[in-house]
Amino acid sequence: MYVQTGSVPAIVPFLRSSPRPLLTIENLSVRFGGVDVLRGVDLAVTRGEALGIVGESGSGKSVTWLAALGLLSKDASISGNVRLDGMELVHADDAHLDQVRGRRIAMISQDPASALNPVLRVGKQVGEVLSRHRGLSGRAIRNEARRLFELVGLPDADRRLDAYPHELSGGQNQRVMIAAALAGEPDLLIADEPTTALDATIQAQILDLLATIRQETGMSLVLISHDLGLVSETCDRIAVMYSGRIIETARTKAIFGNPLHPYTRGLLGAVPSFEGEVGRLIPIEGQVPEPANMPPGCSFAPRCPLRRGICEVAEPALKVTEGGHSYACLAADALQISKMR
Ligand SMILES: Nc1ncnc2c1ncn2[C@@H]1O[C@H](COP(=O)(O)OP(=O)(O)OP(=O)(O)O)[C@@H](O)[C@H]1O
Ligand SMILES: [Mg+2]
Repeated sequence: MYVQTGSVPAIVPFLRSSPRPLLTIENLSVRFGGVDVLRGVDLAVTRGEALGIVGESGSGKSVTWLAALGLLSKDASISGNVRLDGMELVHADDAHLDQVRGRRIAMISQDPASALNPVLRVGKQVGEVLSRHRGLSGRAIRNEARRLFELVGLPDADRRLDAYPHELSGGQNQRVMIAAALAGEPDLLIADEPTTALDATIQAQILDLLATIRQETGMSLVLISHDLGLVSETCDRIAVMYSGRIIETARTKAIFGNPLHPYTRGLLGAVPSFEGEVGRLIPIEGQVPEPANMPPGCSFAPRCPLRRGICEVAEPALKVTEGGHSYACLAADALQISKMR
């Protein structure tokens, strides 16, 4: 879909101009062995936007997108809807999903070791995507794979094409995965902790690269990270997850300027301040509940400084304010936090 011009792909205007969501997730739930790990996720990704997903370990960030792409193991029981341009993906057959995965939606997995085939040269792994999704063959594959390796900043790209994953560093393998993800020219790239294995300088380079590609192509980006600071620099909007649900979604500025959920406020307390000085790190007390042992009512209530009686009884629904800021908190409602400035 995008055309090669110099080092970055050319602009695709239609991806930019349409206000329709590219992907919608409605009431997505996932259960493993009778235990609910995802509990009714609602989310939309619009064309060209960068959406950040944050939340503590185990909150369901990865499972949401693995479920959306049909990549969970067979023992997962999935309900709800995921629509790409109106086309249903939940329970779609593999033939159908193979046309979507890698082509319309690409995912950079959290775990490079499991994503790359250890016995296949990395150039060949990128070449397979180019052949399957873009119909390239012969010399064109090698030329395009080399261009992608150069694009993601792999030094000595031509020689690297012939390397096996074990001959590359963790950071280089991460770049190979990004090259493979970009090879299908996806409309949406899901990057699950794409910079965890990288040092701070290379991390910044990779995020800059993703931002440039997004600007040039109109590609949408979902960036999953533990690091709220990192997500805020890259993303237009942020969704905060807690124990298998979205508990707050808003534009990045509103998440930082007017967080409505006490969990988000807690996370922000744990992020260095934007104002130059590094703020004090304030860990949130207590633990995320185990999916098999969820408390009644709001799952954050046992850790919540604003907890009231009602919070231990009722699970709050996600409420949308006029500005499109959504949150799920009965205490915030009772205290009218959304009306405070
Ligand atoms: N295959 C599986 N079988 C059983 N439970 C699973 C499976 N995969 C994930 N889970 C559970 O689902 C919940 C959500 O997991 P998920 O991997 O989405 O968390 P995450 O937010 O991505 O965490 P992290 O930040 O550590 O990557 C966790 O409680 C996890 O143990
Ligand atoms: Mg994860």
